[in-house]
Amino acid sequence: MHNCQILRTFATKIENLITMATQEETFKKIVAHCKEYGFVFPSSEIYDGLGAVYDYAQNGVELKNNIKRYWWDSMTLLHENIVGIDAAIFMHPTTWKASGHVDAFNDPLIDNRDSKKRYRADVLIEEQLAKIEDKINKEVEKAHKRFGESFDEAQFRATNGRVLEHQAKWDALHQRYSDAMNKMDLDELKQIILDEEIVCPISGTRNWTDVRQFNLMFSTDMGSTADGAMKIYLRPETAQGIFVNYLNVQKTGRMKIPFGIAQIGKAFRNEIVARQFIFRMREFEQMEMQFFIKPGTEMEWFEHWKQFRLKWHKALGLGDEKYRYHDHEKLAHYANAATDIEFQMPFGFKEVEGIHSRTNFDLSQHAKYSGKKIEYFDPEMNQSYTPYVIETSIGVDRMFLSIMCSAYQEEQLEGGDTRVVLHLPAVLAPVKACVMPLVKKDGLPEKAREIMDMLKFDFKTTYDEKDSIGKRYRRQDAIGTPFCITVDHDTLTDGCVTVRYRDTMQQDRVRIEDLHELIRKATDMKLLYRKLMTE
Ligand code: GAP
Repeated sequence: MHNCQILRTFATKIENLITMATQEETFKKIVAHCKEYGFVFPSSEIYDGLGAVYDYAQNGVELKNNIKRYWWDSMTLLHENIVGIDAAIFMHPTTWKASGHVDAFNDPLIDNRDSKKRYRADVLIEEQLAKIEDKINKEVEKAHKRFGESFDEAQFRATNGRVLEHQAKWDALHQRYSDAMNKMDLDELKQIILDEEIVCPISGTRNWTDVRQFNLMFSTDMGSTADGAMKIYLRPETAQGIFVNYLNVQKTGRMKIPFGIAQIGKAFRNEIVARQFIFRMREFEQMEMQFFIKPGTEMEWFEHWKQFRLKWHKALGLGDEKYRYHDHEKLAHYANAATDIEFQMPFGFKEVEGIHSRTNFDLSQHAKYSGKKIEYFDPEMNQSYTPYVIETSIGVDRMFLSIMCSAYQEEQLEGGDTRVVLHLPAVLAPVKACVMPLVKKDGLPEKAREIMDMLKFDFKTTYDEKDSIGKRYRRQDAIGTPFCITVDHDTLTDGCVTVRYRDTMQQDRVRIEDLHELIRKATDMKLLYRKLMTE
């Protein structure tokens, strides 16, 4: 290789390593920020925490509730044919036999004998695929830099020798992996790991055990042993609570197809690879909606919900380029179409929501296992059928994480100062306004309290009189408060306050009676709802 080329390759490698390290560093800072500013705490931290379980703190719970409100209203308020329920976490154990979770909700696990660490075999292989993809992307990036404006990426990918070599490797491995996963061929999964010479990241060895299946459901006993305790499960998804209530809701609500049932609630999975903070938890929260439709219309409705859900995400204004669809090639046995909405986290594009066309699998299974007729009588067709279902399923915690990741920013200010600010969408911000008296005397605290009392019925408002105004602004920036309202001596005579805006740090003099409308205009969820229904 020519010396210049070696240097360029080396420089690109260093650049990529720096980008990765910076993103990792940023993510660590976001996690630390969540704890320091009262968003997320490790569960039972005084006992050193519990793996992949987290508590939402005083600001976190407000943000989380706002996310849930946005989702709930978008479903049940904006759609007259969608109603909500709140089913119990405990369900009759046969539910999970019928749904397939008892037999098939498994992860293929493999242990490294030297480090004694356990891994998901599929994750190890997917990471290997990602490494090959990285190599291709680096070649493309390098060429892009070399050729500049005139670079034709499609042509480069189709003709460059090194790219084609990597692509052929990726295709072969991907095919072998997909076949093994489709058949759940555990021996083949192990053989792939051996053939690809995948090593344990801790021990660096290839001393692997066989691959075994591991069920992800948590179980417990209901009733005393003397009475004959029943083994029950903590639900791994909220969806089944909707399916088993389909008949009840359809009949009591006199619902006509197409109609939906929405639910927000906790779900539990004994995740083996639990990392990346609240991205993969053992106890988490889902917002799911099952939309019951006439068989044969599923592709139309699948497309409809795919579009609507992406619009819902984009309406928050975090940046359209941060989302992408990932259509599933490998479909679950009950699905005939599935896609993920992925968000660009600091650790890559990751699934935040799944949209699935689940056919009539779940209702048919529950009909079979319960012996009940679970159908819909269509008056127009004068005929009964088992409805098909389109499901939208989003994790509250992943949504929370995506918002925190895009909101967090360290900004250099004039004069060499820096500030950490959360540019949260104002509608979701935990606190909408902070009222501050300039000094703790001369009747300013009393006036500030009066203003707070005026606003607090409509907006989550706080009061702060400690430290300099600059420090108080920084504290509010760090939790993403869009408005700081300062009461000074002039307020007592001119009836105006200084409003300081979080994003621009600009300050305006505003009449006290105009404050309500100013805050409402920026934080009213109705504005988002209108955007969803009109654009
Ligand atoms: N009812 C379908 C279902 O549960 P899923 O793809 O397994 O589908 C849906 O989960 C969503 O739930 C995911 O897109 C993700 O946002 C969230 N989710 C799943 N497992 C999770 C976990 N361990 N921790 C946090 N969120 C999780």
